[in-house]
Formats: sequence, structure tokens, C-alpha cells
Amino acid sequence: MPAETCDWYDTPLYYDIIFDDDTATEATFLEVMHLRHGRGTSSKSRTLLEPACGSGRLMVEMARRGWIASGFDANEAMLEHARERLKSIHLTGKLWQDRMERFQLTGRKKFDLAHCLVSTFKYLQTESDALNCLQRVADALKPGGIFVLGLHLSDYTKQAITHERWVASRDGIHVVCNTRTWPANRAKRTEAMRNRLRITFPDGRIRNQETLWEFRTYSAAQLRALLKKVPQLNLVACHDFHCDPDSTRKLDDSYADIVLILKRT
Ligand SMILES: C[S@@+](CC[C@H](N)C(=O)[O-])C[C@H]1O[C@@H](n2cnc3c(N)ncnc32)[C@H](O)[C@@H]1O
Repeated sequence: MPAETCDWYDTPLYYDIIFDDDTATEATFLEVMHLRHGRGTSSKSRTLLEPACGSGRLMVEMARRGWIASGFDANEAMLEHARERLKSIHLTGKLWQDRMERFQLTGRKKFDLAHCLVSTFKYLQTESDALNCLQRVADALKPGGIFVLGLHLSDYTKQAITHERWVASRDGIHVVCNTRTWPANRAKRTEAMRNRLRITFPDGRIRNQETLWEFRTYSAAQLRALLKKVPQLNLVACHDFHCDPDSTRKLDDSYADIVLILKRT
């Protein structure tokens, strides 16, 4: 059956099914980073902001743990899914449609924690959009608050196509996700990714869908150069996508999937 071309984020449930496995580990990591490097409060007034919050999997988990959670996303379908998830378990959170490169915060509310994981930051395709996002996050944080930023670094010497496969199920819906990432283009700072989903429903129906994306690429040096332009955010630790609070990395090109802890001065 040919794949239907669509934006994966217009079908939030399938995104949520695939990514939910890591949610509890990531939420625990965020809480430990907040205690270790951030403002360290464990009161009921802890606040967080998730730029590009997607289906709300992390917002819901953090709200469940007592955080006052706010998030925005460019995609209304993702936001609606997040709203429904919060409502279904009688939790609240502030959700609105906005973009990472130009988001607006109303009022004077500042946050203890902000986070943006799973390479979402790489959707910002220009240096100025990336800079605008970092500057806005810095402005949104309280002094001493942290921004936890996870992204995949590109190896410009690598010429092979990378393939990854994830499989997950929920309520009888089985999702297989195959991604292909083409070699990064150093001159253009772009990387193409194709994502194919095969969804099998409880009644045996099958749906195939495909999304194509282009990401901005970063080497460790390019990321450091970007961070240098936002002096209000200081790199205080570097981890990886395993989100083990006790395992740190250097921000260099020896390991690709990195999570930075940036502390607001
Ligand atoms: C990989 S998902 C991440 C969702 C969520 N942060 C998580 O950890 O599950 C990427 C999300 O980024 C959103 N997105 C992409 N570009 C964006 C932009 N410029 N501003 C706001 N949201 C954006 C998409 O709509 C999608 O929901």
C-alpha cells in the first residue's frame, strides 16, 4: 500500500505512542537537573515552559508531578491532543499556538525550568531563528533557572544514510516508525529526514504515512558558537539522550545525541 504524504504532527496519537516510552525517564531527569543545577525548589509553585511541546507527553507527566506547566507549539492538532490528555486526567496546563523563533509571553510570569528535547530545536532553520529562540527562552527564565536542550549533532564527514526504527503499541494500535537521515550538507547546514509510519489498527486496517523534513545541522563547535551569542545562558553540564543524571559528556563531536543544561545568569 503506498504511503500517504502528510505532516506526522497532524496525527498526534501516533507521535505520542512512539515517544511515550521515554517520557518518565526524561521527566525524572528534568526534575533532577532542576534540583542539581537550577533553582532547586520543590514547592508546589515550580513552573516550566516547553517550547514546541508537541502532543504534551512531557507536559502531562510534569503536571502530574506537581509542576505548573506551560507550553506552545506551531501545530494545532498537537496542542488539541495535549489539551485532551491533560483534561482526561483532570490536570491543567497553559497551552497556546506559537512558534519557537518568535513566541510571545503575556504578563510578567517567569519560569524555573524550560526544556526542548528530541532535536526539536533543529526545526529552526536559520541562525537568527535559533538565536531568537534562545534569547526568548533566556528572557522567560527566572535568574538561576535552567534550559534543558537536547539535540543530535551532525557528523559532516559521514556519507552514509542513517536508519532508525521504533515500534510501540497502545490500546491495540501498533505503530512502526522507520526514519532515514541523509548525510548533512555542511555548506547549507541542512539535513534531510524521511519518516515512515505503518499503523495497524485493532480491526486489522493498515495506514502508511510519510513525512519529509529538513533540519538545521550543528557540529559541537557550531553549537558553541551559537550559545556564545546568548551570554545569559551558561552551559553548566552536558548529558546525552539516555538522560542519566549521573553520566555526563563533553560537548564535543565524540558523541552525537547530547542534552545541554543551560543556566540563566
Ligand atoms: C519532535 S516533536 C517534540 C514534541 C515535544 N517537545 C516532545 O518532547 O515530545 C516536534 C514538535 O515541534 C513542533 N514545531 C516544529 N517547528 C516549530 C516551530 N518553529 N515553533 C513551534 N513548534 C514547532 C512540531 O509541531 C512538533 O509538535
